[in-house]
Amino acid sequence: MGLLDGKKGLVVGVANERSYAYYIAKALTEAGATCAYTHLPGEKNERRTKRAVTPVSGDDAWMRPLDASSDDEIDTVFDEYAKSFDRMDFLVHSIAFADREWLAAGKFTDTPRDAYLGAVDISAYTLAAMSKRARPLMDKSGGGSILCMSYYGGDKVVPGYNVMGVAKAALECTARYLASELGEQNIRVNSISGGYLRTLASSAVGGTDTMGETAAQKAPLRRATEGEDVGGTAVYLVSDLSKGVTGETIFVDCGINILGA
Ligand SMILES: NC(=O)c1ccc[n+]([C@@H]2O[C@H](COP(=O)([O-])OP(=O)(O)OC[C@H]3O[C@@H](n4cnc5c(N)ncnc54)[C@H](O)[C@@H]3O)[C@@H](O)[C@H]2O)c1
Repeated sequence: MGLLDGKKGLVVGVANERSYAYYIAKALTEAGATCAYTHLPGEKNERRTKRAVTPVSGDDAWMRPLDASSDDEIDTVFDEYAKSFDRMDFLVHSIAFADREWLAAGKFTDTPRDAYLGAVDISAYTLAAMSKRARPLMDKSGGGSILCMSYYGGDKVVPGYNVMGVAKAALECTARYLASELGEQNIRVNSISGGYLRTLASSAVGGTDTMGETAAQKAPLRRATEGEDVGGTAVYLVSDLSKGVTGETIFVDCGINILGA
């Protein structure tokens, strides 16, 4: 018996086998859940996501293209999901984007309006946009769990994280407001603030080259965060073990956020 037997949901954000979303999907699947996926449009993106999810969910894993900047594409994905699955128990939002030109130490003050708004749109607003579409599907199944991925740079200044820090603050706050409104339908919304992991997204942030190593030396647990650490917390948040937990940001960073210096 798996903790998540019978649960089904959508995982947005598997780019490849290094993505946080990949580790989340793997852990949820190992606990008994069924995951459906999206990938960025384009044949190359589809191929990479398929290569990552096939060992987890099989050759016939449910996958659809999604550029989350388009409301129409979000509608299409949720409509198609509803035609293929009888329930939605979880939604994993594990996407972020900011123009890398503005992700360098000393560049924040010059961030142009479109780069700022674009980062907040893709990295934060889309949580609200997807939650709106997930709501009726989760309501039908008696509730659900929505997760998103944040980072400490939304709380404190991390050089180079810049506009992405603004987006993460917006994301966590969006999760709290959603939690307050969706709670009456037993839909919980939580953020996982993950430690540094080398991925496509994190390598766009200037100065992250040594971050994993530094974190491993400084963190209370004396090691770098691994994808499995976040995967395990996702299982907890999707499962009934966390049925009283909503609107929270849970740090999964080997303790690095508790340090003052
Ligand atoms: N890697 C880290 O150190 C770290 C730490 C804490 C939080 N996070 C967060 O984890 C989440 C996943 O990032 P990751 O590190 O696994 O990197 P990743 O590059 O593997 O994943 C980022 C995902 O965002 C998707 N994406 C970007 N723009 C999109 C759009 N317009 N529409 C749809 N999808 C889009 C990409 O396709 C990709 O799947 C992000 O929210 C990131 O900020 C990462």
